[in-house]
Formats: sequence, structure tokens, C-alpha cells
Amino acid sequence: MKYASEIEKRKTFAIISHPDAGKTTLTEKFLLFGGAIQTAGAVKSNKIKKHATSDFMEIERQRGISVATSVMSFEYKDKLINLLDTPGHKDFAEDTYRTLTAVDSVVLVIDCVKGVEEQTEKLMEVCRMRDTPVIIFINKMDRDGRNPFDLLEEVEKKLSIKTQPLSWPINMGRDFKGVYNVHNHSLLTFGAHQKATDEDMVKIPDLSTPLIEELVGKKDADALREDMELIMGVYESFDKEAYLAGHLAPVFFGSAVNNFGIKDLLDTFIQIAPSPKPRMTDKREVTAEEDKFTGFVFKIHANIDPRHRDRVAFLRICSGKFERNTFYHHVRLDKNVRFSNPYTFLAREKNVVDDAYPGDVVGLFDTGNFKIGDTLTEGEVMTYVGIPSFSPEIFKELINNDPMKTKQLEKGIRQLTDEGVAQLFTQHGGNRKIIGCVGDLQFEVIQYRLLQEYGAACSFKTLPFYKACWIQGDATKVADFVRYKQANVVNDKEDNLVYLAESEWYLNTERTNNPAIKFFITNDYKHELA
Ligand code: G4P
Repeated sequence: MKYASEIEKRKTFAIISHPDAGKTTLTEKFLLFGGAIQTAGAVKSNKIKKHATSDFMEIERQRGISVATSVMSFEYKDKLINLLDTPGHKDFAEDTYRTLTAVDSVVLVIDCVKGVEEQTEKLMEVCRMRDTPVIIFINKMDRDGRNPFDLLEEVEKKLSIKTQPLSWPINMGRDFKGVYNVHNHSLLTFGAHQKATDEDMVKIPDLSTPLIEELVGKKDADALREDMELIMGVYESFDKEAYLAGHLAPVFFGSAVNNFGIKDLLDTFIQIAPSPKPRMTDKREVTAEEDKFTGFVFKIHANIDPRHRDRVAFLRICSGKFERNTFYHHVRLDKNVRFSNPYTFLAREKNVVDDAYPGDVVGLFDTGNFKIGDTLTEGEVMTYVGIPSFSPEIFKELINNDPMKTKQLEKGIRQLTDEGVAQLFTQHGGNRKIIGCVGDLQFEVIQYRLLQEYGAACSFKTLPFYKACWIQGDATKVADFVRYKQANVVNDKEDNLVYLAESEWYLNTERTNNPAIKFFITNDYKHELA
């Protein structure tokens, strides 16, 4: 347990939300509290504009900038917080899913007017797969939103997680008066002080005190007492273990843009959020406290500027101490590698680091040695698992427009898919190449990069599939299925069999007709189709 105090200090997490719910604004407020930025707007200017769907070059340019904000590390009280950024644009959702494999917990932002939205559900599904602890922040309370009880009910139903309010709003919209902190019995009024400090919180001896009338008026004081009576009747005292197991989500209400309710959220976060957790490899579970260094690559960022062909591989440290200029074992390639300029991201500056600890993320310059999921160790042969590929949503056939450049095209598409830009499938028993992505934008990115970086011109032909399922089961039955459904069966890059379904109806029909075959939504065969 050489590094116990370093490990205990670290909280590695991500803020996730449906676009527009307030992720960027909340990130910024956290960084302000952590002293990592001095002015509001500093993060926002780096944000990928979510509506700029037509101009992918601009998006890539901004993605370039966003390397610097991929990991934002800051100190708050006695903790070291690593906040991993996730792209707001829905076409980069797969980047977000992968980033979620590198965090120990998440804060989920929900817009109180819109409630649970499509992307919220998808992100939560990924969190549930890994039992990631979730804290929910219900944002934009300064707007006329939905009734908070209804919101909690919707969250429980749509996100399949139990909730427990740790703060409670007093009205909303124009009449928003503030929040009552359920666990430490204090009240923070909205308006006068938007940089809430500890002194702004008024301690409430008990809910019958006339102090509440003084602070928010009779009508709202009565409403708060009524709400609290209901809440106390429904919820038991906060069960931290249930939160850490990913079964219970504490809920906070506030307004990110007004910096309201954020400090309370952050203070609770550092108290309850987990420090680096144990992680599974294909051989055994590794705890953060082990002396020997291990880590895995969860994201690769390529520079689209053709003058700079370098890539950055993001390595999450899982155990031991990572040191600069030290040889580590690259398990997949079975070779030793070392890094002279690994960097971290303290206070939004890229700094070369000499050492890093579990929970930290370091950026490694890469010339093509890494792919997503690669593991580094001090020699032990094992690979971190649980960094699965998820089913893409759009499928297109890759058409080679220049037969003289076939080799370049093949190499290019392999490298780009190693980076996780898209998934590559090959027709079973044939040679047709099918690319699967989450968003249309990636196809433009691929086309552009294949031409710029590999000199290979290509185009795409849209295919009518909507989902990919990895299939497994009785060998004879699978072989029969493959023969019968040949037009729909492809191989992924690891040669696994994948069924491409045209619609939910087809998928359900095939499942019913083939009870001996299992259909999985991830390539690690861990998550069966619901
Ligand atoms: P995202 O990263 O989740 O996509 O959301 P982002 O923080 O960019 O917020 C989306 C919009 O919601 C922004 O307005 C932001 O100012 C606003 N917002 C965030 N928190 C609150 C809040 O507590 N109350 C209210 N009323 N609005 C909030 P925008 O007009 O899109 O951008 P901007 O011009 O304000 O920067």
C-alpha cells in the first residue's frame, strides 16, 4: 500500500448529460471552485458547437483544442479531482461511452424543463453496465420546469435507478427561492449571492423554526414543510453503500449558470464519490493499491492537421505508480515501451509529468502503437476488460474510388478504426467493408482523413441496417444461422460474428426463431439484448 494516501485523494469522474442540459456550464463552475480557471466562459469557448453539424472541419478543429480539456485536474479542499471531458455532440457518443470506462463515478445533469432525454437514457445504460455510482444534478431551476416529485419519478422509471433527494427546491422558475439541504439541514436562498460560500448557508435547527418564514415567506415555508414530510416518509437515511454499488442516485437541485447549488454538490461529491476502484482484467482483478503499475488506453485522439500526424493516447492508471522514461510492457504487442514526454492536465495546462497515480490520466504521444483497450503493465500478461464496443447506429459500405490506392485505403481504415473513430465490419465470406458509426459526422471525418492522411479516395453507400448484435451459441445452430442469413452476417475486426438487423422487427423475429443463439449489444458478450 505504498501509495495509499495518493489514491485516497483522487476522485476521477465525468459529467454527462443530454446536449444543452448544462454539462459545460457545470464543468466550468466546478473548475472555478477548484481555482483551475479564473473567468467564466473559459471552458465554453472550447466547446464543440453542437449545432454545427454541417461543418465537420470546424468540429475537428475544436476537437483539437479540446485535447487540452480532455482531462481537467484540479484540487479542491484536500482532494485531487480528475474531471474527464465527454464530447457534447451526439455524433461522438461512442467517445463518451469509452470515457465512462475510465471514470470511477459520474455526475448526471438533467434539465428540469425537459426531464430525462434520449441521450440521458443511453448514457445511463452504459453506467448501469458497470454499476458506476451516479449523482444527479437537476439543473435550470430558475426556469419553470416540471414538478420535482414528477421528475424523480421519471428518473427512477426511465433510468432504472432509485433516487434520493439530498437537496430540495423551494419553488422554481421566477419564484425559485432556493434549496433546502436535506442531509445537513440548512437553507440556501437564491438570488443575492451567486457565489455561494459556506457562510451563505443558513443552518435550520428544525423545520418548525419561523426562520424559514423569514427567509422564503409563509407560503413557501408551508410548502417546504409539506414536501419534507413526504420525503421523510418515503426515504430512509442516505445509504452510501447503495450509492457506491450504483443502485441509488443522490439528487441535487440548482442552477449551474447562476452558480447555485453547485458548492453543495461539489462538497458532497468529494465526501461520497469513490476513490480509484478495483478493475477487472482477463486474468484477475487489480486493486488500485497494488505496488506495480498497470493502466489502459481508453481514448486516442488524432490530430487532423496533416502537418502534425501525431496522436495522443489517453492512459488511465489503474494501479501502482507510472513513471516517465521507464519501460513498461505493452501487452498486445508483447514489447517494452517508454515515454519521455507523458503529460497531465493540471489547471488546464499540459504539463510533462514525472509520475502519476491510480485515477490519473496521462496523455502519451503515439505514432500508431496503440489501439483502444491496450494495456500497459510492469511485465504481467493481462488485459483490462470492460472497454467494449457498442452497437453502431448507422451503417455504410466503404467504396474504393481509386483502385490504385487499395492498400492505402485498407491500412487507413484499419488505423482509423483502431482509434475508435468507427467500427469496421467485413462481409462474412466476402470482402465488402462496412463501416458502423454512431453519427453521420464520422463518415465525413473518415472520408476526409483517408484522403488527407493516406491519399485514398472513398465514398459510402448507405445500408439499411440499424443495429449490430454479436452472436454466440451452439456451433451448429450458429453455422446454420450464418448460412441462412448470409446477407446480414459480418465479421468484426477480431473476426467475431455479428448480425446486422434491418429493424427491431427483424431482430425480434430472429431471436424468436433461434433460441439457441444469444444476441449481444457489446462485443465482450457481457450484455445481452434486452
Ligand atoms: P451542454 O454542455 O450540456 O450542452 O449545455 P451548456 O452548459 O452549454 O448549457 C446549455 C444552455 O443552457 C446554455 O445556454 C446555458 O447558458 C444554459 N444554462 C445552463 N445552466 C442553466 C441554468 O441553470 N439556468 C438557465 N436558465 N440556463 C442554463 P445557451 O444560450 O445555449 O448558451 P450561452 O449563449 O448562454 O452560452
